Amino acid sequence: MNNPSAGPVIAIDGTSGSGKSSTSRGVAERLGLRYLDTGAMFRAMTWWMLEHGVDVNDPRAVASYAGAPEIVSGTDPRRPAIVVGERDVATAIRSDEVNAAVSPVSAVPEVRARLLDLQRAVIGDGGIVVEGRDIGSVVAPDAEVKIYLTADPAARARRRALEEGGADVSATEESLLNRDRIDSGRATAPLVMAEGAAHIDSTDLTLDEVIDRVVALVEQAGAVGDPA
Ligand code: DC
Repeated sequence: MNNPSAGPVIAIDGTSGSGKSSTSRGVAERLGLRYLDTGAMFRAMTWWMLEHGVDVNDPRAVASYAGAPEIVSGTDPRRPAIVVGERDVATAIRSDEVNAAVSPVSAVPEVRARLLDLQRAVIGDGGIVVEGRDIGSVVAPDAEVKIYLTADPAARARRRALEEGGADVSATEESLLNRDRIDSGRATAPLVMAEGAAHIDSTDLTLDEVIDRVVALVEQAGAVGDPA
């Protein structure tokens, strides 16, 4: 918790593939803030469970191993890094296997409690853009600025498939919608629009336009700005 950099917390929540990562990294770079991808932490936990043969559809098995993986998140928006134990898993956590298993693993309360501690330790005194599903509602309810980012499912699937080097768009859409369903329907810390959040629909906006809007909201809130 002894993070030397104090400053605002910008919480960016939203559905899968709505542009949270690119937006969050862009905002952090423009404002000189750190960046935390909490989705990558849930993916890293899921990767570890799969690697160790834990049945990801058995919540009791997942719960009993939730304390085991050592997960370290980098906070440089230009070089997002995620390490489990000694292993750099930045690429491995984006596999189809992890995509399919991450929502059920994330629904297990012991997993959420473990990662909540890690997330709050990284957030420390702020100066950070944090992206996820429950940042404005649970992880950092006092965040200076909260954004709820969405986009039409077809647009999200097109973008994600492009990022993944031409994956099948309709299969990608189905996978995104399936994750949305589980993430929004779970009992612990579901995806919701947090109280006080500003909703941005990115369907017809470019990445730069979305970043502009978030930066404008941060400035309006007086969360960062010219030193007096
Ligand atoms: O943002 P992402 O697609 O990389 O997130 C992967 C999964 O992690 C998402 O489907 C649900 C889970 N997640 C979560 O439950 N809470 C968060 N704060 C972030 C991600």
